[in-house]
Amino acid sequence: MKRWNPSDFDDAGEAPPPPGSPVKLGSAAHKVLLSRTLLDTFDPYRPAVIDWPKLKPDALARITSLPIWDIAVQTEGKARARVLAYAERVSDPLLKRAVELNGFEEGRHKHVLSNLVEAYGIRLKPEPAYKTPRNAEWAFMVTGFSECIDSFFAFGLFEAAKRTGYFPQELVETFEPVIREEGRHILFFVNWVAWRRRNMALWRRPLFELKVIAVWLFLVYERLGLAKDVGTAEEANFTVNGGADLADVNIAELIDLCLSENDRRLGAYDARLVRPKFVPRMARLARWMLRLRSHKSGSSRPPGVATGTIKSAHGEAIFGVAEDRRVADRPRPRYVQRMSHPPAPDRDALSDLTQLGRQSPGFDRPEAARLERVPNPHPDTLYLARFTAPEFTSLCPVTGQPDFAQLVIDYAPQDWLIESKSLKLYLGAFRNHGAFHEDCTVAIGKRIVEIAAPRWLRIGGYWYPRGGIPIDIFYQTGPVPDGLWAPDQGVMPYRGRG
Ligand SMILES: [Fe+2]
Ligand SMILES: [Fe+2]
Repeated sequence: MKRWNPSDFDDAGEAPPPPGSPVKLGSAAHKVLLSRTLLDTFDPYRPAVIDWPKLKPDALARITSLPIWDIAVQTEGKARARVLAYAERVSDPLLKRAVELNGFEEGRHKHVLSNLVEAYGIRLKPEPAYKTPRNAEWAFMVTGFSECIDSFFAFGLFEAAKRTGYFPQELVETFEPVIREEGRHILFFVNWVAWRRRNMALWRRPLFELKVIAVWLFLVYERLGLAKDVGTAEEANFTVNGGADLADVNIAELIDLCLSENDRRLGAYDARLVRPKFVPRMARLARWMLRLRSHKSGSSRPPGVATGTIKSAHGEAIFGVAEDRRVADRPRPRYVQRMSHPPAPDRDALSDLTQLGRQSPGFDRPEAARLERVPNPHPDTLYLARFTAPEFTSLCPVTGQPDFAQLVIDYAPQDWLIESKSLKLYLGAFRNHGAFHEDCTVAIGKRIVEIAAPRWLRIGGYWYPRGGIPIDIFYQTGPVPDGLWAPDQGVMPYRGRG
């Protein structure tokens, strides 16, 4: 298999548009940005050297009984063939290189999966030959849109598997690069679609739009077929052999998790690139319909928090549960209802903490860090909790120079508190992370909201000078709730010596 190195990309010769400059969709700058985003975020890991963790018997049984391995390996093999076939058709050198990298990564996914299957003794059906498609662009679009659907759900399911312990932590870490790459692929693909439709003769555009519609219809048809296939003996095997933990996933919670993971994962890239919209919109529609149904059925539970749980491998409820009715059914003040709120706390949640009181090595990037929560002992009381991180540090995404900030995070907890050791490790994970001040500050605020769903949150990022300019970033989820004591953050405006 061809080895990819970041230095392979240097001769492409087209620099990305400077940060902050506007980029028009379909422009040459857009093409450079979408291609370079994929190329420059390449992770040169090698599947052959992955040391597959030894699994405990119950975890091994769960992994081997999943009915997905044949489909997963073949999907990656097919994707590789299709994407590489399209790469041959692309004449622009930079775009071609990016499509080639996409194809290479699909092949590498297949490699990772094949190694996993072998390491855990999973028997696969013989693989079919991966034919070069006759209509390469059509095949590329089928793969691209198909990944938009699959990745959206994979993001949520992967996070659910991670939180529940369904996948052991070491396996989660091994798979993280694959999931991250799928996020890069769909970002690349939807931007390619946006660029492509603006770079073809006017008379061709209606045909292209028809092609897009035809691909979606084809995918829906294909998925209905797939669903039929899975509802057979294989699925029964999956459920009986331990899939039951994940089979209990509440659909509303899962959609919420998919949406938030989708935002989190794709939020990490240049804001001037477009994001996949269709699948998240459909998911939001489904979510809205579920909410409507729960209202109609007169459920006293908060919308979206229905019965059902996501359970850990040991059977404990992890999140999204309304087991504690005293909390879930309690009438809530008006300001609480303005924000979507989390499931009621599971009082055993402390036993799910993975970092507090244990040795934790820390994380090398924020996405890998696990921000944890504990039940709020005063869920009925409106109060403010403040975290101050006076020595926060990250890197400039362009120059790699260190940046420093004082962060002040104020939040009014609802059902959950942020566990402070996990916050410390999460903030520390930014140390070698390249992102703009605005991005770091707002992303941290949003991640806390995602995990703890507080009544209200604000974060102030007071950054030390870069290029002689200190930058302050302020983000809050809404107006300060009535009656909340929220003192000023008390950080002085930047002053130099004296
Ligand atoms: Fe893939
Ligand atoms: Fe992919």
